[in-house]
Amino acid sequence: MSNNIVIAIDGYSSCGKSTLAKALAKKLHFIYIDSGAMYRAVTLYFLRNNIDLKDHEQITDALKNIHLNFHSRDYQTHITLNDEEVSEEIRQMPVSDNVSDVAALREVRHEMVKQQQRMGRSKNIVMDGRDIGTTVFPEATLKIFMTADPKIRAERRYKELHEKNPDITLEEVFENIAHRDYQDTTRAESPLVRAPDAIILDNTNMTPDQQLQFALDKVNTNK
Ligand code: DC
Repeated sequence: MSNNIVIAIDGYSSCGKSTLAKALAKKLHFIYIDSGAMYRAVTLYFLRNNIDLKDHEQITDALKNIHLNFHSRDYQTHITLNDEEVSEEIRQMPVSDNVSDVAALREVRHEMVKQQQRMGRSKNIVMDGRDIGTTVFPEATLKIFMTADPKIRAERRYKELHEKNPDITLEEVFENIAHRDYQDTTRAESPLVRAPDAIILDNTNMTPDQQLQFALDKVNTNK
């Protein structure tokens, strides 16, 4: 039995999971791991190399050529794909539009889960994603399942994206979120589902500070 602490934060797209996970990791001096960034980096590689998502052999071969690494600076996610910093590019629409198809592939999930479990084996971590409390770390010390009104989520995401991409519309962002919710909850492999022992955090009307306090209270009552 390992003695390290794992905090699993799962939930819908653009719910503020990473904001909470980063703040919590910082406060507790844990390592923060953004599992979605890993699926995004794989998607970027697949797009650049025109990988056919129906060709399982191509997918397996491609995965062997993908090397991902996290570099944590100030609790911001810096991810490299074969030594190239891709943290910005993985947030752009081409990746966002394709990532749920890639994340639904059995071969991709199998490889990512293996890497994620390795990262959490001996360190105290906060990891956010969709299947962290169910598949990656079913024995996690604390599990939080985040949700919020889809309209509010779209508005928050639009504000972020609009700064870098003024052409983007709120409708586009809303549709992307709705599509990803559908894909994430209905896929055959590890669909997004609340672990029975996960605590629900609906942050529709909560500030980031209130969410952090909520999570810290749960950490303290879990001790
Ligand atoms: O959290 P995010 O929006 O960056 O995640 C990108 C995509 O990856 C999203 O469509 C769901 C998927 N994902 C997943 O299937 N499992 C995870 N543990 C994390 C993300």
